[in-house]
Amino acid sequence: MKASGEDGKAPAGGPWEECFEAAVQLALRAGQIIRKALSEEKRVSTKTSAADLVTETDHVVEALILQELQTRFPSHRFIAEEAAAAGAKCVLTPSPTWIVDPIDGTCNFVHRFPTVAVSIGFAVNQELEFGVIYHCTEERLYTGRRGQGAFCNGQRLRVSRETDLSKALVLTEIGPRRDPATLKLFLSNMERLLHAGAHGVRVIGSSTLALCHLAAGTADAYYQFGLHCWDLAAATVIIREAGGVVMDTSGGPLDLMSCRVVAAGTREMAVLIAQALQTINYGRDDER
Ligand code: IPD
Repeated sequence: MKASGEDGKAPAGGPWEECFEAAVQLALRAGQIIRKALSEEKRVSTKTSAADLVTETDHVVEALILQELQTRFPSHRFIAEEAAAAGAKCVLTPSPTWIVDPIDGTCNFVHRFPTVAVSIGFAVNQELEFGVIYHCTEERLYTGRRGQGAFCNGQRLRVSRETDLSKALVLTEIGPRRDPATLKLFLSNMERLLHAGAHGVRVIGSSTLALCHLAAGTADAYYQFGLHCWDLAAATVIIREAGGVVMDTSGGPLDLMSCRVVAAGTREMAVLIAQALQTINYGRDDER
């Protein structure tokens, strides 16, 4: 499978070439494990809420990815979903840092709904360098490297140039909380966008793959409250390299740890969405 490079031609390496190649190989290996496990019986547990699920496969895949990377890059730092759930701190320092979601779309995975991904992001000096997302069932490998473009299975990705909310297909995800106040805000945000005339609002159950739709130009915008840095890191590079905008729901710069995001093909669209939203406060990943 081609990792990147239009028409299969690999772009110039860059300083983190070895790390990028390792991420691609691990995402593909993890994808094989997830694909096989999708149709099998699963042991399911809950984390922060009854809708926040984890399976033994999340743990197996995360262990595979982290063990391999820690062996190859012992001085690097790691942020990973299941380690964070077990109490590890999420701190983004200037050191080279891997940001890993072993299965994004765990609820889909539990239900055998075939929209699940592995997401591996990499940051240096607190700046995202590359992102690799593998759609396990459709075998689509999305990659983005800072300054080198974004690709899916070797085809260049480009965002939609739509600026008019009344012509937009908007994606979002529900997030883990189900208390009445959160649900009311979530539904009211959706209602505001529909009142503004959006063509549709979709929830596909995987924030990383929804963000890949945005990068591919098959949706015009994405917003969410309650996603985490491991949902966002890899996808942010891919969207930016596809020409899109990723920012905070306040309209300011993206804060990877703030558990909220608006992304769009154009800045105009991102601002329109941000202006329509009411904030749902999920706290910060680096303050848990
Ligand atoms: C979750 C999914 C879900 C989104 C959550 C994410 P997980 O990731 O992307 O669609 O609503 O906010 O945390 O738990 O499946 O890795």
